[in-house]
Amino acid sequence: MQDSSLQIDRLDLWPTTFFSCTNPEHHLIKEDLVSYFNAVSSDFEYDIESGVAVGIKDNLLESKFDIFKHDNEAVQELKNFCVTATSQALSEINGQLWRFLSDEQKSINIDESWFHITKKGGYHDVHTHSNCSWSGIYYVQQGDQDPLSDRFGGNNRFRSSTRMGYFDYGNRYASDSYEVSPEDGKMILFPPHVPHSATPYWGNKDRVVVAFNIRVGTK
Ligand SMILES: [Fe+2]
Repeated sequence: MQDSSLQIDRLDLWPTTFFSCTNPEHHLIKEDLVSYFNAVSSDFEYDIESGVAVGIKDNLLESKFDIFKHDNEAVQELKNFCVTATSQALSEINGQLWRFLSDEQKSINIDESWFHITKKGGYHDVHTHSNCSWSGIYYVQQGDQDPLSDRFGGNNRFRSSTRMGYFDYGNRYASDSYEVSPEDGKMILFPPHVPHSATPYWGNKDRVVVAFNIRVGTK
């Protein structure tokens, strides 16, 4: 029986916030991005050209972490979209604080950015990002589904960073993981400490994504 005189104050102390949006002009840059990334990767010495965490990636090509520094029109258009969308998201989440910052303090610097071209069976095991305040994933080409398989795969699976270790009906609200299905032109912005992975991809067409790490107000 509920006691109507009892006031329960709810404190959401450490919420985990993601942002998601879709680039309405993705169709204008998609083919150019895929072509450019294919051209860049054709010169790779190694599949994981970045040399980062090669043991947890398979059947995919990864660029060096400087793709947004490339002087390519489609790449720069994509970078501009990511910066604009991120700025809007950070304005929303930081509220009044954001409004009192100078333009320099609000400057969004994408120090690290790279692409993945994932082949059939490719995956990226669980990891986190570091030395940044936000990370993002942009789906350039979602890929397809093998007609002979009922598995689409290639989702990004995020896991709770505050794992409870025990579940019953009392904490049923708290989901342990969250999956994002790739969609052309979709961008996900997430806290870099959240563990995530790219599940094995089973389509025949390449799955192409760009990922990036952001620092704000610091070079
Ligand atoms: Fe990642």
